[in-house]
Amino acid sequence: MKSIRTWVTLGVAGAVLATGAMLMGSNGATAAGADKTIAYRKMVMGATGAHIGAIASVVKGETDYAAHVGDHARALAGLARMMPDIFPEGSGEGDTRAKPEIWTDWPGFTAAAKALETAAMDLAMKADSGDMAAIGAGLGAVGKSCGGCHKPFRKPAK
Ligand code: HEC
Repeated sequence: MKSIRTWVTLGVAGAVLATGAMLMGSNGATAAGADKTIAYRKMVMGATGAHIGAIASVVKGETDYAAHVGDHARALAGLARMMPDIFPEGSGEGDTRAKPEIWTDWPGFTAAAKALETAAMDLAMKADSGDMAAIGAGLGAVGKSCGGCHKPFRKPAK
């Protein structure tokens, strides 16, 4: 006979699987709720802002964490890879600055995410070289790629 503990464990595992199946059944916006999807993508974008801010702090000489720049840059590349996922169709309404152009020009939008990924990987390579001038230039290119998406695809702040 199985113990109570085993049954409880199986029950929890079942609930987790059921939730997973529900989430996989449709796209992120409807399964998780558009408002939760928007909140999630703001967390991802906020993390993006934090990593670039941390790199800028090193490049400006405010802090002495040059050895961290490569990992920040690699984190940015990973976040860029998440970007196409966090704008599912139907997540353009509500507390969001996402422009409808994201979905009418999806190839342009994903290209803008790819441009950030490429610039971030390039910065990571430069970071590992330790050449501060090259790192500064790499940071500039990453910053440009943020604007390259925000300009066409993000509404101005209210
Ligand atoms: C592929 C397009 C794209 C790229 C690349 C991109 N962003 Fe964004 N970002 C957006 C969109 C669209 C929003 C608006 C999201 C919303 O309001 O739902 C946004 C919102 C933000 C926000 C506000 C988050 C909040 O809490 O409302 C920050 C901060 C941000 N981005 C930082 C950055 C930085 C820094 C970079 C570059 C390293 C970057 N983003 C690159 C599309 C992009």
